[in-house]
Formats: sequence, structure tokens, C-alpha cells
Amino acid sequence: MVKVITYGTYDLLHYGHIRLLERAKALGDYLIVGVTADDFDKRRGKINVQQSLIERIEAVRATGLADEIIVEEYEGQKIDDIRRYDIDIFTVGTDWKGKFDYLNEYCRVVYLERTEGISSSEIRKESHLLKLGLAGESDYLNKVAAESLFVNGVVLTGICTGNAPAMSEQIRKLPCVTKDFDRLLDVSDAVYIHSLPQLHYAQVKEALMRGRHVLCESPLALSREECRELYDIARDRNCVLMDVLRTAYSTAYHRLRLLLKSGAIGKVVSVEATCTSLRGISEQETGETNKLWGSITAWGPTALLPVFQILGKNYTKKEIVTHVLSSDSIYDDFTRIDFVYPDAIASIKVGIGVKSEGELIISGTKGYVYVPAPWWKTDYFEIRYENPTDNRKYFYQLDGEGIRYEFASFAKAVEKNRVNRYIEENISEAICGIMEDYIIRKDVLFIR
Ligand code: CTP
Repeated sequence: MVKVITYGTYDLLHYGHIRLLERAKALGDYLIVGVTADDFDKRRGKINVQQSLIERIEAVRATGLADEIIVEEYEGQKIDDIRRYDIDIFTVGTDWKGKFDYLNEYCRVVYLERTEGISSSEIRKESHLLKLGLAGESDYLNKVAAESLFVNGVVLTGICTGNAPAMSEQIRKLPCVTKDFDRLLDVSDAVYIHSLPQLHYAQVKEALMRGRHVLCESPLALSREECRELYDIARDRNCVLMDVLRTAYSTAYHRLRLLLKSGAIGKVVSVEATCTSLRGISEQETGETNKLWGSITAWGPTALLPVFQILGKNYTKKEIVTHVLSSDSIYDDFTRIDFVYPDAIASIKVGIGVKSEGELIISGTKGYVYVPAPWWKTDYFEIRYENPTDNRKYFYQLDGEGIRYEFASFAKAVEKNRVNRYIEENISEAICGIMEDYIIRKDVLFIR
């Protein structure tokens, strides 16, 4: 019996896939199809596969062409599979020509002519085209625009900015470069807002009122009430509203949360997060006119994320100690917030123009989690125990600082009209609450 194996993602199964499977089957007597797991695809850079692994497996099964279906989960698995299943022929389309010649050592390798004119990427592009506008002054948007190119189905329409010269050529060439937010909304289905925090509420509201979906840098607003109002409007208008905190979308950070939930370090008793940088997210944002965009608004949401996601938002007491540059300003270059919970404590330190070790430490009754600097770009962490031989290390690739995952998740939410929240609504609100308390000086101690 001649055994044949082939692999693929098989997202939104199409004619090209079926033709390939038919010819693969005809090469022998028994066909095994390896369908790639979501994580494996993500690591390979395929980030907005639309269907779940189960749906893709079911679609391949429904063709009736596979005698057996397996899941491809790791780099190098093909060699293991070829040996394990005693494979005679490995085959894939000619788009992979030469890439798998190394398998000739284990079996025959056959490249089948790829069917022209169709691909999952094209189908995704056509059916899920999301016209996205950018808003803000920061040159960070250059990175955002570059990352959007990795996400099928998202097309940039323009930018609303007063800072066009600082933008990349990609942005300056967009069809709509304007200072008028309304104009940007005219040409977009959705907007990504990375403006000054004091502008967020009004811009998000305006976009939602016009039925546009919104992805906005955290904090969404500068008070709890405004934040709640924005989510209510989004619900009323049937729009997706998501706040941007890249860390939440990193696989490592997500896994870390799951491990904590499963009791890997026992009961969590303390969370300590530090985020600092010597310059602001951009010079523009730290300028004299932008007195609110200090370390608390720039870094606060990121540092608060693990505190609220791990310990919840029902702390009993907090103290904000903040270093401000002058007595008439609330622009802070360094702030520390301590929280007391009924059974735990937390502390964050944020700074712009002050440097410290950007680590995250989560202490528990059995051990602790250590995420080295810069922890907010989480790709690696350790779980450490009293006995060092029990320690565990975890690494998950993080591409594009998580921006592309955020886009993919946003595009999917818009498409399916369902938000898979990486940042829960109440967490978002709790973050806005801290901004509010800071501004109204509740629980704040100023030092100069
Ligand atoms: N394939 C093919 N003809 C096509 C598309 C895919 O022969 N028009 C083959 C690929 O060469 C591969 C298998 O089908 O052997 C599974 O491919 P997959 O990567 O899942 O499909 P694509 O449509 O290429 O997906 P994407 O656009 O996401 O890369």
C-alpha cells in the first residue's frame, strides 16, 4: 500500500485545495492530511485564519478524500509523521517548491502544480475587507500602518493628523490625509485612535455615533462614567469597540494567565509591574502642550492590566504617589500606585524620563512568575519555585509587538459581529477609573 501525506491550513476550503487533495490521493492508496493547528500557523505568520482548527478539519473531512486527518503542531513534525505513519510520498503545491527537498531523505517528495487564481488569502481579502482609518499625532502610527499589511482584509483609508510630515511614506500616500476627523470617518468603516488621551472620549464617541467600529489606545476615556457610556453607545449602534493594549494579545501573556488560573504558583498574593522609558511614546506626546500624557496615561494602562486581570478590580484601598514636574501641572514623570485587596497586594511603577527594571513579578503561595524586561512585550516568562529544579521556562513568539494580532482580532470581531475580549469591559473601565482618580486627585500624594 502506497501511503501519501500532505499538509495545509485549509482555511475557507476552496477549489484549489480540493484539486490538490484529489491529485495527492491519486498518487497512492492511502492519504493522510495534516491540518495546521492555530498556534503553529500563528508562529508561521498566518495570523488571521478565519476558521477554527475544528472547522478546518471538518471541511477537509467533508471532501471525503482524506483517509486520515492529523494535526500539525510543531516545527519538524513532518519528519516524525513520515516515520511514524510509514509514509511513501510527501506532497504539497508548487508554491512550496524546493522547501521540502530535505524530506527526500525519508520518502519521495512530489510538488503538485498549484491551481492558479485562488487562495484562502484572496477569499479572506474579498469577503472581509475592513476600511480602517488612523487618527493621532504619534509617529508610532508608522509602525501600526506597517503592521496592518500583515493582516488580510484590512485596508488603510487615511489618517487624521496634524503631524503628517513625521509620518512614513506609506501613510503620506494614503488616499485621505486630513486634519478633519469627520472626513476620515466619511471614508472608513473603522478607526484606530492613537491620539492624546484627552481626545479619546470625544473621538471614540463621534466615531461610534456614526456607526464606525473603533480600536482605541487605552485609556478609552478619562473617567469610569465616560468609559461606560462609550461601551453603551457601541452596544446600541452594534459597533465593535476594543481598547488597545498590545500585551493582552501576546500568546505568552495569555498562557501566563491560564497557568495562574490553573494554580501553577498557588494562590496569588502580589502583583508588581514596572513600565518605564526615557522618552515618551513619541516626543510629540511629551511636549509642553500635552500635559496629560505623562507616565500615568502613557504607561499606566499597560502596568494596570495584569493587576486588574489577575486580582480583579475590587481593591479596598490604593495610594498614588506621583512625581510632577511643576506645581501647576499634573504631568508626571514617575508614579507609583499601591493597591490593597482583601487577600493580596499589588504595586505598579511607571515613568517617562525615569528608568527602572521593566519587569513583572507575580508572587504566589507555591512559587512566583518572573517576566523579564520589557515584560509588556511578553514572549518569555519563568515560573520559579523554592527548589530550582522545578522551575519552568516558557517562550512564545511575539511578532510585530502584538499589533498585528490586535488587528486580526479586531477584523474578526467586526466580521463576526462578536468580540472575543482580551481586555474585558470592566478592566477597561477600571483603568479609566484610575485615570479619573489621578485627575481629580483622589488618593494621590504629589511629590516634587
Ligand atoms: N493549494 C493549491 N492551489 C491553490 C491553493 C492552495 O494547490 N490555489 C495547495 C497548497 O499548495 C497546499 C495546500 O493546497 O499544498 C494547502 O494550502 P493552504 O496554504 O492551506 O492554502 P492557500 O489557499 O494557499 O492559503 P493562504 O492563502 O492562506 O496561503
